[in-house]
Amino acid sequence: MTRHFLRDDDLTPAEQAEVLALAAQMKAAPYDHKPLAGPRTVALVFDRPTLRTQVSFTAGIAELGGNPMTVDGGLAAMGQRESVEDVGRVLGRQASAIVWRTAHQADLDTMATYAGVPVVNALTDDFHPCQLLADLLTVQEHVGRLTGTRVAFVGDGACNMGNSWVLAGAMAGLHLVVGAPAGYEPDEDVVKRAVDIAAGTGGSVTLETDPVAAVTGADVVVTDTWVSMGREEEAADRLRLFAPYAVTPELLAHASPGAIVMHCLPAYRGKEIAAEVLDGPKSVVWDEAENRRHAQKAILAWLLEHS
Ligand code: NVA
Repeated sequence: MTRHFLRDDDLTPAEQAEVLALAAQMKAAPYDHKPLAGPRTVALVFDRPTLRTQVSFTAGIAELGGNPMTVDGGLAAMGQRESVEDVGRVLGRQASAIVWRTAHQADLDTMATYAGVPVVNALTDDFHPCQLLADLLTVQEHVGRLTGTRVAFVGDGACNMGNSWVLAGAMAGLHLVVGAPAGYEPDEDVVKRAVDIAAGTGGSVTLETDPVAAVTGADVVVTDTWVSMGREEEAADRLRLFAPYAVTPELLAHASPGAIVMHCLPAYRGKEIAAEVLDGPKSVVWDEAENRRHAQKAILAWLLEHS
């Protein structure tokens, strides 16, 4: 069976732990694992802006001994010039795996159905599971464990990062609190699924509208842009609505004294996060960005080994 990574819970909690352990090994010895030697090609398709995802996959695939092949989604004009089904069939004949950043989760599902090789979600409107593997690796490194760690995600809960934190966090046994205005919670079905998973891992998921209550006692405080890709027209309303959820030194004072701060980037200083927090001693955002490479190498290697 071909394994895909389209959303965080395409892995079981035990498989997630396995991938994270592999990522830590790969980080410790970045040039020692060559499962893509040949080299095997991995297609990287981007329909939307990217920095970290493109560079970390490109460098990571090269380190695995493989050949990264970037495809400009705009030029390919998928869904217009040719169907997602046909693109999937074509890419699957050239590449050993496909990594795709696009808006709609349903298109990714279609690609996975027709490609015949592992497909990896490099961000959709609904999930950003590669980022979460990197983030969990970062929590493990800085906090020393995942199970029982208290994480507060504040700001726009109704975005890919909110959904992925809830789902991947529940799988890892985190106590996750989302602090978001009413109407901006993570997706209801995702929260239900996460609550079910948390019952088996010892984690929990709590929704809060009060930012102070959300961060109180947190070991990790996480935020994301208030204006995700595709939401640009709502920017003015969002900046007003989310202002009380900004990660400032004052808000952070309610977290645990040793708390770390995370942000998947790009970050907007003075909006969702104060400059002195992003650039301050509690911030681990650059480790988080580096860990994209290690985590993505691990998921690619794992999917190919299990397909
Ligand atoms: N929620 C953000 C994540 C960027 C990596 C977005 O979708 O734009």
